[in-house]
Amino acid sequence: VRVAVVFGGRSNEHDVSCGSAASVLAHLDRRRYDVVPVKIEPDGSWIVGKDDPGLFTAADHRARSFLVDDFARVHGGGAQALSGIPRALEQIQDCDVIFPALHGPYGEDGTLQAMLHMCGIPFVGNHVLASAVGMDKEYAKKLLAAAGLAVADGVVLRDERDRLPAADEERLGLPVYVKPARSGSSVGVSRVDTWEALPAAIADAARSDRKVLVEAALTGREIDVGVLERPDGSIEVSPPLEIRLAPHQRLFDHDAKYTDSGTTFEVPARLDPEITEHLRELSLRAFAALECSGLLRVDFFVADDGTATINEVNTFPGFTSSSQYPRMWQAVGLGYAELLDVLIETALR
Ligand code: DAL
Ligand code: MG
Repeated sequence: VRVAVVFGGRSNEHDVSCGSAASVLAHLDRRRYDVVPVKIEPDGSWIVGKDDPGLFTAADHRARSFLVDDFARVHGGGAQALSGIPRALEQIQDCDVIFPALHGPYGEDGTLQAMLHMCGIPFVGNHVLASAVGMDKEYAKKLLAAAGLAVADGVVLRDERDRLPAADEERLGLPVYVKPARSGSSVGVSRVDTWEALPAAIADAARSDRKVLVEAALTGREIDVGVLERPDGSIEVSPPLEIRLAPHQRLFDHDAKYTDSGTTFEVPARLDPEITEHLRELSLRAFAALECSGLLRVDFFVADDGTATINEVNTFPGFTSSSQYPRMWQAVGLGYAELLDVLIETALR
């Protein structure tokens, strides 16, 4: 099977995607797959590279290596650097399947998926609708709420000059969380403890997306659940994973995710069996509500009384070998390489 792994991309999660791709490229079984690495530079140009298992394995094992420089050094420049997407597509159209290892807009949001669908090239993971809705927190919440799932109360500001109406301030209460509507990895997300601090937080979020969400705080434990589609069409749910912040961390922000080692994951999360079962059922409903395929990570806050609220969904969750999604599956005996096999087989079904 010839598989192209597309990574990097134009979003502000470029480096995070390179990290995910380093693990994907390191773990694809070369006895089963011919691998074509394809990097999209931050400026949107595409580099179709050659397989280099040694480089990718090294990148996966070096904690802070994101393939950012290595790949460009080995494959970049000269005749390999293509700014024309059509030429890159020509080079990968003989692939059996594309593995989009991209996070954020222009990759996780249905744009790449639409292009591949147009070209008739099978790809791993979510299709156009689920990807587009999953990337947009306003619409993801609308569809989840319409399916009867609890989401955070919030207000959408469509322009950074918009003010939060006083009635909303009163209803949401402090603290509020301010987020770009279409972004990931907590870029531009902040917790606001005083109303005076709100405009600066909105301006910060608006640097990633002019549409900004101001949300009521969710309390409780932060629990992620993975959903995986098998090649026979059955849908499996992973054990829940708890994100435990170090005492000095106030939220699972970009630093906690990618630089601060104080955060730990516990899987399976220690929850009452009924709550675990409840999360399982809610995750399946979220997967169905967004018409997902392949995979989904559903992120919850679970209050002391067991009430579970969906904080967000991720149609292509972080995918390094130590990220939550692969870790949840490892906990039930599905190793990283086998997880890739399942995703690829499902895409080819
Ligand atoms: N958007 C990042 C990669 C995540 O949620 O895992
Ligand atoms: Mg996310």
